[in-house]
Amino acid sequence: MISEYKIGNDSVKVVTGNGIFSDLSHKDPGIFFIVSSNLLRLYTEKFKKINATKIFAVEDGESSKSLHYYQNVIGELASKNFERNNTIAYVGGGTVGDLAGFISSTYKRGVNLIAIPTTILSMVDSSLGGKNGLNFNGIKNLIGTFKNPSEVIIDTSFISGNKKMLQEALGEIVKHGLMLDNSINELLLSNDASSIWNDKQIEKLIMLNVDAKMSVCEKDPFETMGIRNVLNFGHTVGHAIEAVSLNRISHGYAVMLGMRIESEIARNLGYTEYNPLEIIDDITGKYEINMPSIDAKMLEESEKYIMNDKKISSGILRIPVPIEPGKHRIIDIKTDEFIKEMRKAGERLCS
Ligand SMILES: NC(=O)c1ccc[n+]([C@@H]2O[C@H](COP(=O)([O-])OP(=O)(O)OC[C@H]3O[C@@H](n4cnc5c(N)ncnc54)[C@H](O)[C@@H]3O)[C@@H](O)[C@H]2O)c1
Repeated sequence: MISEYKIGNDSVKVVTGNGIFSDLSHKDPGIFFIVSSNLLRLYTEKFKKINATKIFAVEDGESSKSLHYYQNVIGELASKNFERNNTIAYVGGGTVGDLAGFISSTYKRGVNLIAIPTTILSMVDSSLGGKNGLNFNGIKNLIGTFKNPSEVIIDTSFISGNKKMLQEALGEIVKHGLMLDNSINELLLSNDASSIWNDKQIEKLIMLNVDAKMSVCEKDPFETMGIRNVLNFGHTVGHAIEAVSLNRISHGYAVMLGMRIESEIARNLGYTEYNPLEIIDDITGKYEINMPSIDAKMLEESEKYIMNDKKISSGILRIPVPIEPGKHRIIDIKTDEFIKEMRKAGERLCS
């Protein structure tokens, strides 16, 4: 499947298919690959055709999103006389993608980028929309730019049957379904943890998510118009839960928990006529997600992180709320009112 999008002045082609990495652009000698070292170990066969001198292996994880790694790769590119009209292709999840995106946007003032995301999360989220980021002094994504890849190549053979990886990505996927396109959640609900891998269902699921996210990015290429704010649903509370749990609760699950609380707040304030929690809980049940529990104390501890949320301006928090399946609106709410509502939601939903 091929789809094309226009983000600002950039054209982005998204190609999906099973096994497409093997017959793609690595035949082009002008491509330099930044690859997750885990993937090189896991998928040795897939990389055999690529000239080893064109591959730069990086460790996955937050530590690779650093100036140290950035310097290493830049040094390597320079030593190999990598030119401005060459292309950088990354193969990996969001961490490798964030590093490679920043490199491609700064090396010789910018070179072409091809994204080959290999985690479901990176296929439906981080490879899309052009944001990249390096961590600095313990602060996540403090350094970064906007740089869209010319192509996003989604090869589902990297993910097939990986139930755990799907569970981790479901937070962002269900978010797209609740806020932008209900057919995403309908597709999830008409399948289950086994059948989603049959008959190109997973490819369809990914493409619906690509469309949902890209439609938002097309309207707000540089996140200056408030339209991308919809992508923050579940993240105000979710990020705080992640922080309080010291990352014991992973991002995907924290977003799912955050969406439950934020849906309850939206319902209590009268913005939402249906009950998004029913959809969230049906999906987590069908996909056998063992949701971590959070108690009232954890939610209370998360308040201090919410007070520092970057979406707050003059004591007002601007957040998206679901209004009907697949639709949302953006509201302004005083931070102390949000906290009050969060406590009430916590009393109803937390153990
Ligand atoms: N730029 C953006 O718009 C954006 C958006 C969301 C998240 N992010 C960033 O993305 C990062 C998280 O990315 P992620 O969740 O993709 O994690 P990740 O890149 O750390 O990868 C997670 C693990 O999956 C492994 N892996 C990758 N592909 C695999 C495969 N096909 N089979 C088996 N294992 C595989 C990796 O080796 C790694 O151990 C964070 O740093 C976050 O800040 C960026």
